[in-house]
Amino acid sequence: MATNITWHANLSYDERKDLRKQHGCTVWLTGLSASGKSTVACALEQLLLQKGLSAYRLDGDNIRFGLNKDLGFSEADRNENIRRISEVSKLFADSCTISITSFISPYKADRNRARQLHKEAGLKFIEVFVDVPLEVAEQRDPKGLYKKAREGVIKEFTGISAPYEAPENAELHLRTDLKSVEECASIIYEYLRTEKVI
Ligand code: PPS
Repeated sequence: MATNITWHANLSYDERKDLRKQHGCTVWLTGLSASGKSTVACALEQLLLQKGLSAYRLDGDNIRFGLNKDLGFSEADRNENIRRISEVSKLFADSCTISITSFISPYKADRNRARQLHKEAGLKFIEVFVDVPLEVAEQRDPKGLYKKAREGVIKEFTGISAPYEAPENAELHLRTDLKSVEECASIIYEYLRTEKVI
């Protein structure tokens, strides 16, 4: 960390919330590739925007085109990917936006650090396990990545040759092979209402 830097405070979260008339938070979707994270995130974002709420989606594939284009899929790179996204989603939440992240985020410790970062800032962090059995994800294989991983063309592929540590205490657990995308988005929406985020 650099030295000789000073934190500049502006509006407090509460002052901003009163002006924007909306709470911010982070909805953190985690799950295997092809589990439905991005699809559920899109549906949720649309639902919130249609209700006139401010929401913004940060997506694994998309962020790797820009902010995190220097990172690959080693454990260290995934740690750094999630560290940066934790910070970015915290900023969105602090700006009173509902930040929806869809990253595999396979390591419990990384997700817990993201949670802790939000906690320290007094911001809600809602972890959502977007769950499907590996066989279902592999059957879906929309990008053909599982096939390549099985052939050994892609190394360190989550669920095949790299770990996925499933959450044990996520706020929500959605089985996308048993529920429709709309149902999943609506379960998260209702949870946000119960939690008085919206
Ligand atoms: S991570 O683990 O959280 O850092 O991954 P993430 O940033 O979410 O990126 C996952 C998307 O990258 C593509 N991809 C891979 N995924 C897993 N393992 C390997 N080796 C890999 N290589 C490329 C893949 O399209 C993932 O997108 P989703 O939407 O999860 O399928």
